[in-house]
This record gives sequence, structure tokens and C-alpha cells, in this order.
Amino acid sequence: MQEEALILSTDLDAGIRILTINRPKALNALNLAVLEALDAQIQELSTLNTIKTVVITGSGEKSFVAGADIKAMSELSVSQAAVFSAYGHGVLEKLSKLPQIVIAAVNGFCLGGGCELALSCDFIYASEKAVFGQPEVSLGLIPGFGGTQRLSRRVGLMQAMELVVSGRKINAQEALQLGLCLSVMPMEGFLDAVIEKAKVINQQSFTAVSRAKALMYQGADLPLYHANQLEVQNFAACFDTFDAKEGMQAFMARRPAQFK
Ligand code: CAA
Repeated sequence: MQEEALILSTDLDAGIRILTINRPKALNALNLAVLEALDAQIQELSTLNTIKTVVITGSGEKSFVAGADIKAMSELSVSQAAVFSAYGHGVLEKLSKLPQIVIAAVNGFCLGGGCELALSCDFIYASEKAVFGQPEVSLGLIPGFGGTQRLSRRVGLMQAMELVVSGRKINAQEALQLGLCLSVMPMEGFLDAVIEKAKVINQQSFTAVSRAKALMYQGADLPLYHANQLEVQNFAACFDTFDAKEGMQAFMARRPAQFK
């Protein structure tokens, strides 16, 4: 019998790819094989201009991703743990640099490496069943795929530290209050509702969306003056694109724009 893929990939007509992490018996925990499958998906997406948004979710009713695989990690030496952490970081860094907008559709447990995966996405939408947390300290560990860094950049240092050092799990409403997710949606029809959000982005110019995404991440790590200089360059570069000519012409002709 053929083994099921660790990541299921489905393309929708609207230029949306759904990636479903598919280890439901282990609550979609991230082992090396899942990370490699995600890496391969990212590699392919980086070359595709037919896909404009990517939605990542978890297989089954219960979990988005319940963390890095604890059973696999329990065997690691110090040097193997360094390789595992660095590889996870590398994959999530590549994910955040994709030209597409990447959305985490958090349908259940989103813990440890799962929360770090979600934090590497551009947007997080939570179902009412979502549970977030960085429980690594309860295992004698600390987050290893960016949780000590990306979480505080998303929700603030004090809030992030409280979550990391208490290891406590929070529900979707608290995640919303913290700014960890954009909104909380009913479980019924959850994925369809997230897809509707993606469709709104896909109506826009993909070159402009990608440029804005890259610039906003780049600028967040720079002093404001330098970041604003980058905006000047990038704003100007838009004027050399088909989409900018088409978008402005379409506005003046009072017709919908036909972006490339
Ligand atoms: N790794 C490996 N297996 C996991 C897992 C994980 N992170 N999370 C759940 N599973 C497995 C369980 O071992 C169990 O498998 P078996 O049936 O073969 O025993 C199966 O998934 C179902 O889990 P539970 O029976 O525990 O389900 P539950 O509903 O009682 O509890 C849960 C759900 C609260 C999410 C609980 O499974 C849990 O606490 N999981 C671990 C969460 C965690 O600590 N995550 C952080 C991992 S460390 C990390 O991610 C480091 C990093 O930053 C890189």
C-alpha cells in the first residue's frame, strides 16, 4: 500500500495552494521528514507565479501542529539538536521569504514548533478550537524554531516572555487579544472562510503584493529613516511594471484592472 504524503498539496482555481500537514495520529508533529516535505514545497512555490497565496493547515479535527516531534527529539545529542534547530529555522526563514502571502489556518493545537510555523506565516487565522502555546519549558527545553524571537516581535516582549516561561496554553480568544491571530472563526466552514480572505488578496496585483510583503519585513529590522528610503526605491520601481500602468489606467477608465 502506498504511504500517504506528509504534506497534502491542493491547488484551487483562484491561485491558492492549500498545504495540509498530514500526520494526524501524532497531531501533525514536525519530524525531519515533515520539515523536508515542507522545504520541498517551499522550493517549488518560490518558482511558481500561478500561485499567489498559500494556506497552511493541519490534518484532522484536532490539531494544526502540536510541535516538533518529541519522540524523535528525545534521541538527539547536542550537535544533532543544533542541526535540527538550524534546519527548522532555515525552512521557516524560507517560508517567510516566499513571494506569496502565506496564511496559517490554525484549526486546533498550535504548540511549540507549530506556533513557530504559524508565526513564520504572514497571517494567522484561528478557529474557535485553536489552542496556542510555547510549552517547551515543560520539557526542559526552550523553543527551537524561532519562538523566543518571532513571538515577541508579533505580540511584544513581555507578553511573549510570559507565554514562553510559563509554557501555558491559551485559547483563540486570548490569542486574538494578544494580536497573535487576526481573527477567530467558527470551526464549521473554517477553511472556506480563510480561503475567502485569500481570494481578496489574489484580486490585487501579485507583483505589488509581493513587493510590499518583502519590504515590510525588511524594513521592520531597520531604523525608520533607512526603511523609508527603501520604500522610496520600491515605490519608484513599481512604475516600471505592467501592473502599475494597468492598475492606474484601469482606475482612470473606470474598469476593473487586469493584472498579470
Ligand atoms: N511530538 C510527538 N508526538 C506527539 C506530539 C509531539 N509534539 N504531540 C502529540 N503527539 C502524539 C502523542 O504522543 C500521541 O501519540 P500516541 O497515541 O502514539 O501516544 C498522539 O499524538 C495524541 O496525543 P495525546 O494522546 O497526548 O492527545 P491529547 O489530546 O491527550 O493531548 C496535547 C494533546 C495537549 C497537544 C498533547 O499531545 C501535548 O501536550 N503534546 C505536546 C505539545 C508540546 O509540548 N509541543 C512542543 C514540542 S517541543 C518543540 O516544538 C520544540 C521546538 O520549538 C522546535
